Amino acid sequence: MSEKTFYITTPIYYPSGNLHIGHTYTTVAADTITRFKKLKGYDTYFLTGTDEHGQKIQKVAEEAGVSPKAYVDGIVAGIKNLWDTMNISYDQFIRTTDPEHEKTIQKIFKKLYDQGDIYKSTYEGMYCTPCESFWTESQLVDGKCPDCGRPVEKASEEAYFFKMSKYADDLLKYIEEHPDFIQPESRKNEMINNFIKPGLQDLCVSRTSFSWGVPVDFDPGHVVYVWIDALPNYISALGYLNDKPDLMARYWPADVHLVGKDIIRFHTIYWPIILMALKLPLPKKVYGHGWILLKGGKMSKSVGNVVDPVVLVDKYGVDALRYHVLREMSYGSDGVYNEDLLVSHINSDLANDLGNLLSRTLAMTEKYFGGVISEDRETGDFDDSLIELAEKTPAVVSDYMDKLDFSRALEEIWKLISRSNKYIDETQPWVLGKDPEKKARLAQVMYNLTECLRIVTVLISSAMPQTAEKMAEQLKCPAEYLTWDSIQKFGRFPEGIEVKRCEALFPRIELNKKEETVKENKKTEKKAENKKAENTEALPEGLITIDDFAKVQLRVAEVVACEPHPDADRLLVLQLMVGQEKRQVVSGIAKYYQPDELVGKTVILVANLKPVNLRGVESNGMILAATKGKKLSLVTVDGIASGGKVS
Ligand code: ME8
Ligand code: MG
Repeated sequence: MSEKTFYITTPIYYPSGNLHIGHTYTTVAADTITRFKKLKGYDTYFLTGTDEHGQKIQKVAEEAGVSPKAYVDGIVAGIKNLWDTMNISYDQFIRTTDPEHEKTIQKIFKKLYDQGDIYKSTYEGMYCTPCESFWTESQLVDGKCPDCGRPVEKASEEAYFFKMSKYADDLLKYIEEHPDFIQPESRKNEMINNFIKPGLQDLCVSRTSFSWGVPVDFDPGHVVYVWIDALPNYISALGYLNDKPDLMARYWPADVHLVGKDIIRFHTIYWPIILMALKLPLPKKVYGHGWILLKGGKMSKSVGNVVDPVVLVDKYGVDALRYHVLREMSYGSDGVYNEDLLVSHINSDLANDLGNLLSRTLAMTEKYFGGVISEDRETGDFDDSLIELAEKTPAVVSDYMDKLDFSRALEEIWKLISRSNKYIDETQPWVLGKDPEKKARLAQVMYNLTECLRIVTVLISSAMPQTAEKMAEQLKCPAEYLTWDSIQKFGRFPEGIEVKRCEALFPRIELNKKEETVKENKKTEKKAENKKAENTEALPEGLITIDDFAKVQLRVAEVVACEPHPDADRLLVLQLMVGQEKRQVVSGIAKYYQPDELVGKTVILVANLKPVNLRGVESNGMILAATKGKKLSLVTVDGIASGGKVS
């Protein structure tokens, strides 16, 4: 066993529907850093899995007419297939329905209850008897059940609560003493100022109104609710309080919990408090990445379905997709997915820069040296600067990788690739090849390029394992020259190797089809403009035409999270789902609504407003509200799923 260990986790996903490109980002990122640490000699452990309990899953299963377990089994199989397709090398796939996980949860619950951190009280809300569901006042539609429209009544339910506030001071101290714990930095301030300092509320940790969960063994009828079931997966996977192999001593505390920004609060407040209560060390780092967004205006059926990662892999290959998501998501911020960008990454970075460097180098080695570079070589102009960059790059890449800044790490690798391409232009091997006197110089040029390709192969192997394999195969490079140590020094590529050029790494994507669509769109735009000109002429003041109105894209959106604006009392920051697309909207409704009561509401979004920045937070759209005097009420809809159109 190596001394250096690295334990990383992704969130466990809700198997309530298909995973999309956003989930793929987290898992590809975790896979990439794991492979990189392994390359550097760490003993790594990579955990992913699924979060299978809860009312939501119970409901979808009922609707599908199967048991919750049968329902999730089907989806989990699909998720595992997706990870295989994406070449994800996880060490364990945990499911919260694993009996060993359930055992851990029951023991943790009992322990926390016995030591007085969990107590029994009542949960209050509005209850719909036919639906057997609790709702908050604000989730109701016209005072009725938002699901079935029938009357609800005030009801309370017995529930257990966790005393979060007891640990707040210790948590604050820990965060302040461990500057790396919450990353990026901006998320740390948000957690401290918006959640910890205003005071932590006790967390509801059990329910009796549904049964699909881990039963509380000392109080039948209660099931453990959401976070206290989900978060401890990170230790139940390592055998904590169960009969799985005991890996706690070897891997705990985790080096990184990689999560999306919507769940960073649970990982940097609830989870550390649970761990403190269990007297376990806290994870070294919780990294909250941004979201992959879709350009709102472009949402359409055809765009919607290509965001299925399986479809994209079929069309473009797994490494193209891995490269694209890693490259596009810059450190901690949101990234935009669109197919044009993916295609342009493939054509320029992958086919043109990397693919051409390999095929040109191998083609010339074959042409001038029959595939084996001669040992009689002569150094010359441009060699030193190329070698200097090649020797410097691994350390720079490593620094960015350690910060989980994959985009910058790739950028550095691509600098070496571009430098190598430029070296071809500078040295002009095709000119050297015509002159028998220059054979030794030509041999050195080809050697240097081959050596750069070897280094690049190792550097990209964690982000793009399949491509690295193909490159090594064409370079015929033996495994001992593909190690981390072996690329610290330039000039290790062994003598006498016969390289073999094969198919192109990344065939260029033909743009013809796309260009046609663009032309088509331009024509329609022009027509629309002409029409507009006609219409405006005769229009009485104050009226708009139906075409004017049609420009406003109204969409049904579900509020999935809501927080106060970090810097303005009047504003709330809402996270919306519009179909499969995530959106952040800042709205001036803090006076009228508590953040929590908005979650679950179905609202109407103006989807094609130009994004604006409101006191440092981006707002991407606007939600509709009705006002009169001092009253304000959000416009909500009933029975139409998010993503629906409003017209
Ligand atoms: O939250 N871009 O599960 P989940 C980037 N079960 N990341 C995205 C994304 C997007 N468009 N959409 C979702 C849960 N994600 C809990 C986790 S962990 C103990 C329990 C990310 O399936 C999201 O940010 O709803 C989160 O990190 C992950 O997908 C899982 O989301
Ligand atoms: Mg979620």
